[in-house]
Amino acid sequence: MIVDCTLGGGGHTSSILKKMKALHLNMKHRVLGLDRDPDAIARAKIRFENEIRCGELEVVHSSFSQGLAAVNNRPIYGIMADLGISSDQIDSETRGFSFRYPAPLDMRMNTHNDNSLADLLATITETELSDLIWKYGEERFSRKIARKLIDLRSKNEFPKDTLRLADAIASVFPPPMRHKRMHPATQTFQALRIAVNEELLELEILVQKILPAVHTGGRIAVLAFHSLEDRVVKETLRNQELYSLPSRKAIQASDEEIEANPRSRSAKLRFAIRK
Ligand SMILES: C[S@@+](CC[C@H](N)C(=O)[O-])C[C@H]1O[C@@H](n2cnc3c(N)ncnc32)[C@H](O)[C@@H]1O
Repeated sequence: MIVDCTLGGGGHTSSILKKMKALHLNMKHRVLGLDRDPDAIARAKIRFENEIRCGELEVVHSSFSQGLAAVNNRPIYGIMADLGISSDQIDSETRGFSFRYPAPLDMRMNTHNDNSLADLLATITETELSDLIWKYGEERFSRKIARKLIDLRSKNEFPKDTLRLADAIASVFPPPMRHKRMHPATQTFQALRIAVNEELLELEILVQKILPAVHTGGRIAVLAFHSLEDRVVKETLRNQELYSLPSRKAIQASDEEIEANPRSRSAKLRFAIRK
């Protein structure tokens, strides 16, 4: 089977299904799609109603670190992870990933049981917050941002939504930097999202668990959108003997692709083949 660890809007799953049909492969229970976002799962069940009914696709609500349970010892010939958040998540007015709307401080991919951004910010210390913003956002104003937010919290004036949170973050930047093309809160929001969803831990567990589980000749492909994720993938793939790497370099989007889809600008695709 092929496992799409990050089903999202289903674009990759749809392409995989089409490709397998074009190659006339036996489609029974051929693709397993995982996502820890219950909304993504609900949408996929509608979009792929026919494929699910025919048994070509199985859709499971699961984090990818837990996804091997759903594989249930069936041989894996390919596994794909497209990391980060989906367009549905970033464009949502209620999920809290974006500062374009006054959304609740949530940012959870799995809305069923993980802790929200509000929970994280209610208890975190100033040093922990500053370290997190620096480590996951590479934001050079991390200390000032952490001081500002903890100060607001101690005065009971903590921002209640993502728009106000972004304004509070932007207020620590020198005025000329507040109106650049990239909003000053972008890197801090990335850092907070990574922390709320423990994204790097999830990725480390995924690659460690999945590498030995892939069948001989099977492929693993991971699409990363920032250097921290890409580093985990690159180092894990380079430091093991089970796989051959057709290329040591990541595949990146062409100029034409970036023009058609600006979000592909920072994408790095790495893949490896099980020996
Ligand atoms: C970049 S989107 C994937 C888009 C998808 N490839 C498509 O074609 O529409 C990433 C998706 O992975 C999910 N995701 C991120 N981390 C996850 C994890 N640890 N376990 C399961 N799903 C995860 C997110 O909820 C999101 O829906």
